[in-house]
Amino acid sequence: MGNLADDPSWACQDGVTLRNRGFAVAAGESYRTVVNARGPVLEFDDSFSVEATLEVERGEWGAFTLFGTLPHDPWWEGTHRLDLEWQGVALAFVYWDGSGEQPLISTSYSAPGTSGQVRIGLRREGTQLYVLVEGQKVAQLDDPGMFPEGRAYLGANVPPGAAVYLYEIEAGAPAGREETVKVQSVPDAGTYVPTEPSLRELAGTHGVSIGAAVSATPLRCDPTYAEALRYEFNLVATENALKFGPVHPEPDRYDWRNADDIVDLAEAQGMLVRGHTLVWHHQLPRWIEEGEWTRQELMDVLHEHIVTVVGRYKGRIYAWDVVNEAVDGNELRDTIWLRTIGHEYIDMAFRWAHEADPDALLFYNDYGSEGMNVKSDAIYDLVAGMRERGLPIDGVGLQMHVIAGLAPGHVHENMDRLAALGLQVHVTELDVRIRGTPTATALAIQARTYQHVAETCLAAHNCTALVTWGLSDRYSWIPGQFPGWGAALPLDEAFQPKPAYYALADALRGP
Ligand code: XIL
Repeated sequence: MGNLADDPSWACQDGVTLRNRGFAVAAGESYRTVVNARGPVLEFDDSFSVEATLEVERGEWGAFTLFGTLPHDPWWEGTHRLDLEWQGVALAFVYWDGSGEQPLISTSYSAPGTSGQVRIGLRREGTQLYVLVEGQKVAQLDDPGMFPEGRAYLGANVPPGAAVYLYEIEAGAPAGREETVKVQSVPDAGTYVPTEPSLRELAGTHGVSIGAAVSATPLRCDPTYAEALRYEFNLVATENALKFGPVHPEPDRYDWRNADDIVDLAEAQGMLVRGHTLVWHHQLPRWIEEGEWTRQELMDVLHEHIVTVVGRYKGRIYAWDVVNEAVDGNELRDTIWLRTIGHEYIDMAFRWAHEADPDALLFYNDYGSEGMNVKSDAIYDLVAGMRERGLPIDGVGLQMHVIAGLAPGHVHENMDRLAALGLQVHVTELDVRIRGTPTATALAIQARTYQHVAETCLAAHNCTALVTWGLSDRYSWIPGQFPGWGAALPLDEAFQPKPAYYALADALRGP
């Protein structure tokens, strides 16, 4: 069956880097647990054996992990998971049966110590499980029902700061057994089948940019994703790559890899880039959240961050979400920025961004404030005040994470009053979620919501970009954030256009 660690699907996992042979998994500040749900999966009736050759490159241990059932939210609920943790002189066997956060079994077997590569694994023969180190059985136990679906998903786990290199994963029937063990790969989406004309061609006639938020991982590992993106859109937004935590994980270290990949692709394809986001209260690095800051210190940190990030992409990122979600109801949200710096942090952020790239368009971005309500009133007051004070603000981002059939009302009115302040608007994060399995009716309702939002933007002369938060349901953030909801984007999991796609196209085609 070959070396399962060479399967390209591993590159789709966050924290995984492919190597010439196999792949490495590295953790940042928290545990890095990888489960390859789309890659090779073992299917067996009864007996099987699977072994991984690995080396702990950093930290105390690294685990080869087998999932009997895929994880949900919370991570342990209903999840059958076995970590075989290699600790250098011992192998820890940690098994969660899905009933709680504490493992059902947690034992450790001493094993011949190695400083380099080691081969560890598991063999099942009937109801018996054997733990393997260098091909030797080091322990035997009754199977507590680890693989209720007759399959094992492959993965890995490392504690904070650690890294493990998996050279090789081999699976098969135990020697001398006749069982069939199949390795299945979830089929790839395949080639993108374009619909003509593309959304970007249709949008071109209106002078409105049509964009999608992009994640660097599928961009690297899923060719269909990149194809669909290039074909349909003329703008990309950085979904996570430029958030404070991901891009600036340590005080003196920036990690540009993901953002560079996205910006490079955009440049090669003549696409605009929206940078998201400089100041937010989520996805902050630990060093910011846990630091003890004086006002001046935090101002210095934020200044350095903004001029470094904006400066690096000067002339290449045409618009920035400078401040994200700073309003809560009718007041400024209680965040580390507000508490430590005071309300002036917003003005400062815009000034510093402008100083670093005077040509970039600078936006304030928020959710739940697309139409007319208390929150959009507060945002209106905020940006009106900024205009009055002569601050370099060019527009307001309307996120537009909405429910099928429930597009907010009076969006046009809100866009108009912002236009009267001389501000543009961008629809920055459009997705339209559906509860449960999407029926034809739900998809039709969703399509109408997409069409309505697109028509509202096209009708407002100051709405200059329409950006969906992803492109395909295959990689949407919705199921992770709103359990039970999904199917929120115009392309389905297999990159097939949904009614929502055609509705967007219709809106762009005009009346
Ligand atoms: C989301 C991303 O899509 C997820 O991948 C990430 O885990 C959490 O953040 N409003 C925003 C975006 O401004 O940055 C959020 O993006 C979605 C809500």
